[in-house]
Amino acid sequence: MSRLDPTRYPHLLMPFALGAHTLRNRIVHASMTTRLSANRRVTDALVRYYANRARGGAALIVTEPVSAARFQMAPQKVRVWDPDSEAGLARWAEAVEREDCRLLAQIQDPGRGRHERGRNPDAVGASALPDDLSWTVPHVLSVAEIERMLQDFADSCRRLQRCGFSGVELSAAHGHLFHQFLSPCMNTREDRYGGDLAGRCRLLADLVAAIRGVCGGSFLVGIKLPGDDGVERSICPDEAARIARHLTAGGAVDYLCFAQGAHAASLDRHIPDLHGPRAPYVTLTRSLKSAVPGVPVIALGLITDPAEADGILAGGAADLIGLGRPLVTDPAWGLKASQGREADIRYCVSCNSCWAAITEHRALACDNNPRVGLADEVDWWPARVPAAQRKRVVVVGTGIAGMEAAWIAAARGHEVIAFGAGAALGGKTRLLTALPGGEGLSSIYDYQALAAKKSGVRLELGVQATVDDVRSLAPDSVIVACGATMRWPDGWPDAWREEGVVPDLRACIADSVAFTARQGGTAVLFDRDATEGTYASALFLRRLFDRVVLVTPRDRLAEDVPLVNRLGILRRFAERGIESMTLGRIDGGSSLEDGGVRVHNVYTGAPTEIPDVVLLTYATPRAPDLARIAALESAFPEIHVVGDAYAPGSTMAATAHGHRIGNLI
Ligand SMILES: Cc1cc2nc3c(=O)[nH]c(=O)nc-3n(C[C@H](O)[C@H](O)[C@H](O)COP(=O)(O)O)c2cc1C
Repeated sequence: MSRLDPTRYPHLLMPFALGAHTLRNRIVHASMTTRLSANRRVTDALVRYYANRARGGAALIVTEPVSAARFQMAPQKVRVWDPDSEAGLARWAEAVEREDCRLLAQIQDPGRGRHERGRNPDAVGASALPDDLSWTVPHVLSVAEIERMLQDFADSCRRLQRCGFSGVELSAAHGHLFHQFLSPCMNTREDRYGGDLAGRCRLLADLVAAIRGVCGGSFLVGIKLPGDDGVERSICPDEAARIARHLTAGGAVDYLCFAQGAHAASLDRHIPDLHGPRAPYVTLTRSLKSAVPGVPVIALGLITDPAEADGILAGGAADLIGLGRPLVTDPAWGLKASQGREADIRYCVSCNSCWAAITEHRALACDNNPRVGLADEVDWWPARVPAAQRKRVVVVGTGIAGMEAAWIAAARGHEVIAFGAGAALGGKTRLLTALPGGEGLSSIYDYQALAAKKSGVRLELGVQATVDDVRSLAPDSVIVACGATMRWPDGWPDAWREEGVVPDLRACIADSVAFTARQGGTAVLFDRDATEGTYASALFLRRLFDRVVLVTPRDRLAEDVPLVNRLGILRRFAERGIESMTLGRIDGGSSLEDGGVRVHNVYTGAPTEIPDVVLLTYATPRAPDLARIAALESAFPEIHVVGDAYAPGSTMAATAHGHRIGNLI
């Protein structure tokens, strides 16, 4: 691919001299684990994923971490140290480099860090100190082992170079092994790889020198560093500046990139979400850049919008823009921006479902891109069906599952009419956008709304469609996407429901979104849902009530939420004083009449009183309206039930299901 037209984003789309190379623009694909390799080898899916990001406009791609030293055995990483991987590596490099995009492999080791449960049995580290999250105590690398590791890394870099890679990025951020060596509280060694700043930086400095020794000056070497790791006595911004200066002093490093957080309570900061500001590292990046004049710096972290990226470059905070999640969501982000088609970008919603996927050992996936990893992912638009196969399709429900199916079916040439009960499309996702941290989710239905308009979907909003409404349109095919509602909690008195004194959480939030006046008193949220929407609702309620208590029968909070998000939830609950009562049930023995709620321990039944309760609400597993679905099923021969109406699930499941059915009809 040639240069993108820089007219619209003169900073972002301008070429940039990096080391001995000229990048065609400033868009950098940040390292993202994809789990698209297999048997430690390069696969077609892996090559396709990266080639598509290059085709879509990235000028520099940093791969996921590879296994570059012989002790690295991780099954999800391509084994670069193994000579048998050469053909695959060459294929990978060729597919990306031919798009005029430089490909850098990431060299990294997790050290004592671990995202999964349990200890890391294979961990190596700087010192015999436990990881803050998993409490893994690593094997302490001896000097001889370090030297062997550095030699292996250098040999692997040489192999990468021979196979066509333009360079490597050394990841010393996110609390991984190199970070552990840099940190004064994680590295207490007394040999040459510990002690003062120079000692702690020696591992990386020796590695850069070893790579330069075998690969020469034109091979790009960048380092991802901690800018502020959020760990006491570790790497604060001042220490980060000292480390950056020390490592770049010899002129051997081609660029720096700064991240935040570590393998500790600050882990959530390494993938910032919308509970904080947008582009939250930019101010820090700007000041760290001033500590290393002349060294190119990549800005990274929750930069999702091309205008935002252009502004960061224009303001001089950085030289290049790193995009992690945004390029998962839309590989053609750069291409569309350059063509003035910003509205066609499927934007990252910062939900971190992608992180959940890879840490649960699944391939990378996205809430707002149902086609991650497919061959035709770049700027995908459906192919039209032959005229003889065109159908009239009625969609019941305009949440994200229904709308995804609707716009795709229409873009394929079908005549599509979509009924939505609400005044606006988006279903329950729209409600989530009103909650703290949820605003980005609107990108899902905003994209669908535009695509539906472009492809000619007829929307009938504010209509709770009956079988007769649908029948009157004489459809060939019906898509039922009418969602699901929260179940009344088992054992709760019917009187509470009949009197309407206990609303479900959705109703409660829907009633309160326009309401900002404080209520005072205590709100009790009974949680048998454990999704991010429920925890965000607790934050929302905390704005209105003096006290919010979340009661759950589980033994811990946010168990089903990706670890990075979970840590953020725990932090915010602590900061806002939201209380939680685990192993608790509320049942018919409880009473609301005396103004309190009685919670019983699930094992012993021992009661705890919560006094002065002005709101009791619940979030429970959802159930579809089976009677309504059955009535539609019996009335129409061709029917597809999608999203929560089929089986209550995640946002990702809803868009993926709608996408599949839209393509199937
Ligand atoms: C699913 C996922 C996988 C990631 N994998 C890596 C990785 O393997 N190596 C790395 O250095 N950073 C990794 N990161 C961090 C990103 O490179 C980046 O620093 C972070 O996502 C913030 O950038 P963004 O807001 O543009 O996504 C990963 C992030 C996500 C969400």
